[in-house]
Amino acid sequence: MSEQSFQTLGEFIIDKQEDFMYSTGELSRLLSAIRLASKVVNREVNKAGIANIIGKVGSENIQGEEQQKLDVLANEIFIEALSQREVVCGIASEENDDYIEVKCGSNAHLSKYVVLIDPLDGSSNIDVNVSVGTIFSIYRRVTEPGSPVGIEDFLQKGVNQAAAGYVVYGSSTMIVYTTGNGVNGFTLDPSLGTYYLSHANMEFPKTGKIYSINEGNYIKFPQGVKNYIKYCQREEDDRPYTSRYIGSLVSDFHRNMIKGGIYIYPSTSQSPNGKLRLLYECNPMAFLAEQAGGKCTNGFERIMEIEPTELHQRVPFFCGNREMVEKAEEFMAAAA
Ligand code: AHG
Ligand code: MN
Ligand code: MN
Ligand code: MN
Repeated sequence: MSEQSFQTLGEFIIDKQEDFMYSTGELSRLLSAIRLASKVVNREVNKAGIANIIGKVGSENIQGEEQQKLDVLANEIFIEALSQREVVCGIASEENDDYIEVKCGSNAHLSKYVVLIDPLDGSSNIDVNVSVGTIFSIYRRVTEPGSPVGIEDFLQKGVNQAAAGYVVYGSSTMIVYTTGNGVNGFTLDPSLGTYYLSHANMEFPKTGKIYSINEGNYIKFPQGVKNYIKYCQREEDDRPYTSRYIGSLVSDFHRNMIKGGIYIYPSTSQSPNGKLRLLYECNPMAFLAEQAGGKCTNGFERIMEIEPTELHQRVPFFCGNREMVEKAEEFMAAAA
């Protein structure tokens, strides 16, 4: 049996606090609020089947997606935890048309940070008891503390992220995050309600053999992606690769980071910018991927260098082992 780690996420956050430049403990408090909210969402996800929280709400979000009850509930839980604790001055979410200015209490306007969040990732997997997640991205505001937040605080390039991470509500629940000093993963012990460090310094293996893409859309993919898929399937060298696609970005990413693989959500003939959202899905995953030795691009350029123009902007997404992403980019360039 491997040794049990007794370092809790709470202790880890405090220990690492001094790593943050100009730290006043604010980012630590913010991460603690996310930790708490994730436990509440975890509780709800765990009992979803018996608590009448499976199914649709009957409304659409700004993405044109039907909102599931858990999308709405997770959104409320995270927004409440973040605003009640006055650890952020603004929140943008997949489930809200516009960003929220956090006004409650006296300190909120003075907070330095904004959070962008995908409260429940993989909504289509809720009803069938397959892993779902939460993705978060944290920036230092660019407008003056004390003044109301502005759209420019949210429309920042991914390279400006102060921290990013995800929660995977899987066969066990984990938080994986980075503040720019590597990636660490913590597993929830449900009997104690405590996260323990279980995956220190996570890194993509040097080579990978998994490709993850919704191949049902094959006919709509750009030629470069079609050619890359054929390359993955060819019997040559260490190929054919294994195909794995859960349909929850968080779970697909988590598996690929541990086992080695590439995740692709490309442009399609109907959606030239793909499906995934730059600010609260792609940028946080790109920060984690790069911190774990991987690579993330839109097929041509680095995700974290893209200048955002709107909150719910979508981008094609190629993410995973550096070598695999670079090979896919070769196919994209050749067919461009
Ligand atoms: P969300 O549930 O937050 O709207 O995100 C869904 C995303 C992502 O989780 C997943 O990888 C992708 O949509 C799956 O899309 P397809 O069903 O088109 O493959
Ligand atoms: Mn959605
Ligand atoms: Mn999502
Ligand atoms: Mn979502």
